[in-house]
Amino acid sequence: MEKQSNVFFIIGLVFITLFLIVGFEYYFNKENRIYDDVKESYMLKEVFTPQRDENFYLEKIERNNSKVLNLYFVAKKTYINLVEGNPTLLWTYNDTFPGPIIRARKGDVINVTIKNELDVNTTIHWHGMRVPNQMDGVPDITQKPIPPNGTFNYQFKVLDGGIYIYHPHYNTPEQIERGLYGGIVVDYDNDPYEYDRDILMILDDILLENNNQVADFYKTMHTTMMGRYGNVLLVNGKVNPTYYAKEGEVVRLRFINIANARTFYISLINRETNKKIPFLVIGEDISFSNKPYETTLLEVAPGQRYDVLVYLPDEGNYSFIYYSNQGYISISNLIANKSSSVDKVDSYSKNKNQYVYENEQDFQDLIANVDNAEIINIDLYAEMQGMMEMKWSINGRVYPDDTLFIPVDEGRYYILEMRNLNSVPHPMHLHGQRMLVLDGDGIYSFKDTVVIPPNGKLRTIFKAEGKGLWLFHCHILEHAQEGMISVIKVS
Ligand code: C2O
Ligand code: CU
Repeated sequence: MEKQSNVFFIIGLVFITLFLIVGFEYYFNKENRIYDDVKESYMLKEVFTPQRDENFYLEKIERNNSKVLNLYFVAKKTYINLVEGNPTLLWTYNDTFPGPIIRARKGDVINVTIKNELDVNTTIHWHGMRVPNQMDGVPDITQKPIPPNGTFNYQFKVLDGGIYIYHPHYNTPEQIERGLYGGIVVDYDNDPYEYDRDILMILDDILLENNNQVADFYKTMHTTMMGRYGNVLLVNGKVNPTYYAKEGEVVRLRFINIANARTFYISLINRETNKKIPFLVIGEDISFSNKPYETTLLEVAPGQRYDVLVYLPDEGNYSFIYYSNQGYISISNLIANKSSSVDKVDSYSKNKNQYVYENEQDFQDLIANVDNAEIINIDLYAEMQGMMEMKWSINGRVYPDDTLFIPVDEGRYYILEMRNLNSVPHPMHLHGQRMLVLDGDGIYSFKDTVVIPPNGKLRTIFKAEGKGLWLFHCHILEHAQEGMISVIKVS
């Protein structure tokens, strides 16, 4: 008897190992990495009639002049028209999807009271913001979850310019997928860039069933490995929305990716000439870059933000194109209307040659402390638990049953030396801290979400701050859900 079950066990193991290897390679062989959602793309719904979108021009959003932004959020269920046919029942803040945009200045106080009108617990996490630990919104780590009909007051001072997102941290994959999120844009003290429009672009995908309702949340080997991919791509909660500018204008675009798992690879093309328009990247996550750089393919992983400028030389139709190996799909349009005024080529090249000193001292301080910094080794990999259950782990530890706590001292320097031992990329997000990527090319910005490439490594340095417990986790939400979370304990 025993021998026989041993044999089954070994056969089982071999089978699972093969399945894992073949599975991972199948989805993630190197050439195809950029098209990592090939399998899903055939399900992407066709482009609908482009919708006009008036609400995400930041220059039209009033900033109040007082230093305190008092806001009242109600989390509730709301029907929203996403695609043709039935409206979709989403979970929203104040009946809007995405939630209200918060526009602030460095030094302002954000004061949000949230009322939970859902029938489940929730919290709000201020992704990327350096807030006091008890404002961080992590259930059972920094606060008790907000129960149905409960309220909670979040209040904190805004320390950094940059692009942020707020979202629940309770049953996160489901609550974000169902629509609970919104953008925060914080103006910098010294903004040297010149541009004519300023558009927020919140990227997402959502998995809808035939009746246009959000598909159930079931766990499969596939969702555990890849995360949940949607079949409808959304920009600011709309399918292929259209924005307007004028020929010769420089447009500032602030990208946020809040999809559960999908990395967005996007280009801006001129639809008539098919020519790609370069993105001038001026900032990432929590800060300006010290030097802007150009790229024609922007890679935005879940949880990441990019601040970019584009120059539209000619009138005509431009589209943001998302690539898959089935071809490509437009996720949003930018129409440049004819203009009688002068062209702005010079402001673009001026922007291109900026050097930004805003965070220079802090960057240099971190770089100068690389040799003094203590190294924290982080190994990211998948674990089999029993025969059929897969879990994601950090140093072999699986949250919450076997949480890895990493003790650090406030004011000291630490290097996260991260190794990814699988062929799935992991966008790792650190709460409450500012990281600098080492081993780069001399272009720096403060990051809170960095991608560790498949079977690759990445080093970041940070100076520990803010006493308390700060989550460090993968922002592929299903990876986090299945254990890829650890806790940095600052004392
Ligand atoms: Cu945006 Cu801990 O998450
Ligand atoms: Cu991951």
